[in-house]
Amino acid sequence: MCGIVGGVAERNVVPILMEGLRRLEYRGYDSAGIAVMEDSGIDRLRRLGKVQELQNALDKQPIRGTTGISHTRWATHGAPSELNAHPHMSHPEIAIVHNGIIENYETLREELSAAGYKFESDTDTEVVAHRIHQHLQDSADLVAAVRKTVAELEGAYALAVMNRNQPGKLVLARAGCPVVVGLGIGENFVASDVAALLPVTRSFMFLDEGDIALVERRQVTVFDAAGNQVERPVKESELTADAAERGNYRHYMQKEIHEQASAVARTLADRIENGVALDTAFGENAAAVLDKTKGVHIIACGTSYHAGLVARYWIEQLCRIPCSVEIASEYRYRSPVVPDGTLFISISQSGETADTLAALREAKVSGYVSTLTICNAPESSMVRESELAMMTNAGPEIGVASTKAFTTQLAALALLTICLARRAGLEERQERALVAQLAELPGLIEQTLLMDKSIEVLAEKFVDKHHALFLGRGVQNAVAMEGALKLKEISYIHAEAYAAGELKHGPLALVDEDMPVIAVAPDDQLLEKLKSNLQEVRARGGELFVFADPRVHFGENDGIHTMRMPALIQDFQAPILYTIPLQLLAYHVAVLKGTDVDQPRNLAKSVTVE
Ligand code: G6P
Repeated sequence: MCGIVGGVAERNVVPILMEGLRRLEYRGYDSAGIAVMEDSGIDRLRRLGKVQELQNALDKQPIRGTTGISHTRWATHGAPSELNAHPHMSHPEIAIVHNGIIENYETLREELSAAGYKFESDTDTEVVAHRIHQHLQDSADLVAAVRKTVAELEGAYALAVMNRNQPGKLVLARAGCPVVVGLGIGENFVASDVAALLPVTRSFMFLDEGDIALVERRQVTVFDAAGNQVERPVKESELTADAAERGNYRHYMQKEIHEQASAVARTLADRIENGVALDTAFGENAAAVLDKTKGVHIIACGTSYHAGLVARYWIEQLCRIPCSVEIASEYRYRSPVVPDGTLFISISQSGETADTLAALREAKVSGYVSTLTICNAPESSMVRESELAMMTNAGPEIGVASTKAFTTQLAALALLTICLARRAGLEERQERALVAQLAELPGLIEQTLLMDKSIEVLAEKFVDKHHALFLGRGVQNAVAMEGALKLKEISYIHAEAYAAGELKHGPLALVDEDMPVIAVAPDDQLLEKLKSNLQEVRARGGELFVFADPRVHFGENDGIHTMRMPALIQDFQAPILYTIPLQLLAYHVAVLKGTDVDQPRNLAKSVTVE
């Protein structure tokens, strides 16, 4: 979702800003723009489409400047177009970029129109530019004008603002959307996330909610929401600039699917000792919180929500405590009942998803035992605001469709399940057996990835299909949901997942030779039930694609394609391993269809608006 990069330097910032925008492409966007200034005026260039379009325009019409802001836009108010692309300007003086949504922009727009301001775009952002311009008529202080303006805004935003009359200064404001300050030597930068600035610095300052920062070449001055000057801690990022490179892979998603063995190994590393799971994986004070936990509420969105659904099966089965899982955008607008002793868990690869973050904030005042975030972004808002946190350590995930972030979330949730189950009477012998299953995962993932070539061939059968049905039972129902999500996200094939037992209550009506049905069939207690459900599909002429345990037989015939998993897989391992062929299937179908695999249309990696 919208990305911001800005900088103040002695050198020309255009190449730095453009590289930053490229590094933010993964967030999802539809247009890009840049505005820079030196001593004269502000030069601005915007293009609909990819950052490369903007680069091509810059090659033809170079601009340079030592102070600048740039942006990738994911349309909310107003269609994707050059006029709606950021930066937005007010008169020749003010240029701004914005991430988020201004909810009261219509009222402000009417007021500003009445005061004579002319609007070029349909965006909510342009009102902010004009409002700052209007406040600057009373006093030339840019920080004061931004402060007065943000006090009038409702909604969530990160803003970067520059004023032609004050070269060498950027003003940054943060409320509800992430933004970081990257500290260089004699130059400073701002961006929506750390990855954008890794080529220029590894030293970052993170702003708090409501902060306004004045960023200059040699100093950064931060004011809190009350207007007091404050210090914010500076941290060194452990990421390196090449951690987010694509290497020899054709797409980031492909690379990230193939990195899952090492990613899961990193999730588990140092969290298992002498065959048992360590409470400290979830934070220093986790043991005391887990001792008090009598139930769990898991809140998340998208793929992370599916990880929560898997965890519900594990937690209720092995820990015998109630676990509910809910989509954050629903949870935050109802009044959930919080029984005594309930632990709130937010799951998010980015740690910035607006709805999940809002749910976490709500949870902190709702009487939970504690809040725990399972996350892949150590410096994210959720990690900073949650009482307990566990990093999944998957490494940067650039493909919009989440892959290694999901399987590492599952590994983290498996560890949590074991720690809670121990408190519910899981014997040490049983714990060691479960931990041993987890320790085998990296090797089993490598073996499962060997299915890649055969799935590439299989993918050809899906290219001309418009719909697909994914079936699973028990915990595999959540895996089927994740498989369907992957296929629809990147191949644009309409895909739905159903608990196989629910088939006859509706979706069976859709089954015919044009509706491929994909099933995940481990050798578990529900296998025989699943087989009966699949017969119902065959009897209606539906073509079946079954990812099955090597021991399972479906009576091969023309309408059933069975893909055998490469090894015997135990129950606790199954959700992670059966997800992998579904990721590969979605990937290869998308490649054959020629879609934009890493940045599928209309989607964003980090959804920082409601
Ligand atoms: C977006 C991404 C998904 C992700 C979801 C939740 O929709 O495209 O891949 O699962 O947000 O994101 P989170 O960062 O909270 O896990």
